[in-house]
Amino acid sequence: SDSPSSLQISVKNSLDIQIPRHVSIIMDGNGRWAQSKHMPRIEGHRQGAKTVRMVVEESRRIGVRYLSLYAFSTENWQRPKEEVWALMKLFEKYLTSELALLKDNDIRLRVIGNRKSLPESVQKAAAYAETETMAGSSMDLILAVSYGGREELVHAAQQIAQRVLAGEVSAESITEADMRAGLYASDVPDPDVLIRTSDECRISNFLLWQLAYSEIVVTSTRWPEFSVDDYHDCLREFSNRSRRYGLTEEQIATQASVG
Ligand code: FPP
Repeated sequence: SDSPSSLQISVKNSLDIQIPRHVSIIMDGNGRWAQSKHMPRIEGHRQGAKTVRMVVEESRRIGVRYLSLYAFSTENWQRPKEEVWALMKLFEKYLTSELALLKDNDIRLRVIGNRKSLPESVQKAAAYAETETMAGSSMDLILAVSYGGREELVHAAQQIAQRVLAGEVSAESITEADMRAGLYASDVPDPDVLIRTSDECRISNFLLWQLAYSEIVVTSTRWPEFSVDDYHDCLREFSNRSRRYGLTEEQIATQASVG
């Protein structure tokens, strides 16, 4: 099911890089892009939605298996009401208008975050899109909406506490696997690479648990003008990094020659 089509193979060869299994992106700089063009911030978000479409299509084309996008953080609720409202409208529109494209491309949509905090119309559109795309098996598109990494970990801790209270497990026997099982999308492997646009070098409460060993690639491009070439550049930079997971170069070399 994971095997790439011949089209994807030729693209991989032409890019000549190792395609990450899971790409995660903090899409930053919409507001700054709009302001630099003397437009309202929401125009930046609208343009940013077009970049989302490009990145989804390109990721699918080159064989990325999981793509997670940080669309709205728990902190973003504190933005001006009009901007929050416009973003919610944009999410609802995206979840509806992109459905055919997702289905045609065998893409499964998943929304992670505090869903109950979202307007009912967005909750419904998300649930419908998830159901409609459930069978998609070529790529998972994970949208983080009203998402906070700390909140996700609190949520996982609560589930574990319930199990301890119910006498199912002892506190001492809790493992990392139990924490992972409590995450919103626990079956999704950790991101190989985190891309952040617009020059900020922060994780900003995105996938705190999952990003432990991810390579971080920061680009100065603002999200609304992030192009296919910019995306390839980020993937190329990732491909040139050496990932050691806390081991030494020698250990990695030995593993590579054995495996
Ligand atoms: C960060 O830019 C971006 C956001 C808070 C919203 C991200 C939303 C989109 C890209 C819109 C479309 C998304 C989907 C899934 C349809 P910022 O506003 O913080 O920019 P700034 O730091 O320059 O102010």
